[in-house]
Amino acid sequence: MRLHNEVFVITGAQGGMGKETVKRFLEEGAYVCAVDLNMGGVEKTDRLLPIAADVTKEEDVAKVFSKVYETFGYINGLVNIAGIAQPATPIEEVKLEDWEKIMRVNTTALFLTCREVTPYLKKQKEGVIVNVASISMVRPRPGLNAYIASKGAAVSLSQALAIELAEYGIRVNVVNPGPADTNMLGQFTSKNADVETTKETIFKKSVPLGRLIQPIDIAHSLVYLCSKEAAIVTGAVLHVDGGRGI
Ligand SMILES: NC(=O)c1ccc[n+]([C@@H]2O[C@H](COP(=O)([O-])OP(=O)(O)OC[C@H]3O[C@@H](n4cnc5c(N)ncnc54)[C@H](O)[C@@H]3O)[C@@H](O)[C@H]2O)c1
Repeated sequence: MRLHNEVFVITGAQGGMGKETVKRFLEEGAYVCAVDLNMGGVEKTDRLLPIAADVTKEEDVAKVFSKVYETFGYINGLVNIAGIAQPATPIEEVKLEDWEKIMRVNTTALFLTCREVTPYLKKQKEGVIVNVASISMVRPRPGLNAYIASKGAAVSLSQALAIELAEYGIRVNVVNPGPADTNMLGQFTSKNADVETTKETIFKKSVPLGRLIQPIDIAHSLVYLCSKEAAIVTGAVLHVDGGRGI
């Protein structure tokens, strides 16, 4: 097992990619704290600690890490998957409150969780953080202005932390998913467009390997980046996108 007895906090744990990632991490022998706005229906076990929390709230984030440390006595890593989409919108119609909400969830929450976990990892002189951004920050689509800006910031923050925390043995990496077969994909559709048609004609067609990315593809990449197999990998941005970013 590649994550045997290691402890990870995974955010966005009830979403398409999050659920699959929690499952894969448990299969690889990890202890997992699964975090999402609502953790209803997820049973606590010896290895799985579900916590309902809003990762944009300082006090919620602090509680998550203190509870994990109290429960397991160690924290090996943080995997930030939580995020929200933006329906494609011309820039002149984007409301300030929508811009700010997207930045808060996709960027500020990374600042809060990374800031909170760092003292634990520094004390241990080891640890790993992986942030999920998006291939759209490399290859934008029209109308996803706020979303793309938030994911660009996620990558820049991750690389800033990779250099800052390297001397403490802490690795920080990014996964950039391509269009993925989850509920979120339909939420990028512009106001009047049909969701299923957009998925088929725009998203699937944009992937050179010819299919949408599946949650398991992302989960595999997150296991790799958190495992000892990636011990010398930091500041990397791994495109798990079927070639969409080329
Ligand atoms: N689906 C795609 O096509 C795609 C493509 C590229 C990148 N991504 C990114 O991948 C990540 C996962 O996406 P997904 O497709 O699994 O989406 P999803 O909507 O299925 O899951 C996202 C999860 O994040 C949670 N979340 C949102 N705000 C939160 C908050 N404030 N606090 C705690 N949890 C919160 C939601 O409740 C949800 O369970 C996101 O960061 C997304 O931006 C998705």
